[in-house]
Amino acid sequence: MLYTFIHTIHIYSVFIYGGFLFVDILFLSKIKQSLSEEEHKKAREAIMIHVRKVVPYSLMVAVASGLYLFSQVFGAISENGMSYFQIVLSIKAFLGLWLGFRGINQKFFGIQPWIFKAHLFPFSLVALIILLSQIMYL
Ligand code: HEM
Repeated sequence: MLYTFIHTIHIYSVFIYGGFLFVDILFLSKIKQSLSEEEHKKAREAIMIHVRKVVPYSLMVAVASGLYLFSQVFGAISENGMSYFQIVLSIKAFLGLWLGFRGINQKFFGIQPWIFKAHLFPFSLVALIILLSQIMYL
């Protein structure tokens, strides 16, 4: 029951976080095409003030709930080494934690990511993480 509850929270939070990245990459990045430089800056900021109040926190919820799920499903490593599920889940968890680490540094310590500053990098990671989350049970 608790697992299902946390799992649902995990899905909602990644939906909010990933959803913003998808919208940003696919649509918001295109508003430049119809607005002047100055208008674009204003329009983007008008959206970003609301984004900053929600999206970084949903990333933190995704990481915290993910850590709980991980602790419940990873299981013991057998003598023959890690199973396919454990390997794929570890890669997915590593990428998710990297995103979380990056987001926390940016939000609370003002440390800008030193690699791939644009949202394309987190967007690609989220797309990959979602894929890994689906194939890990194969
Ligand atoms: C932004 C980062 C993350 C994204 C986009 C993400 C995305 C997802 C998605 C789409 C699922 C599959 C849900 C389903 O099909 O029912 C999932 C499940 C899972 N995630 Fe994450 N996740 C993220 C971060 C993390 C982190 C950091 C961890 C662990 C440290 C984690 C651990 C798990 C586990 C263990 C499951 C399996 C739950 C189950 O099927 O019972 N996730 N995640």
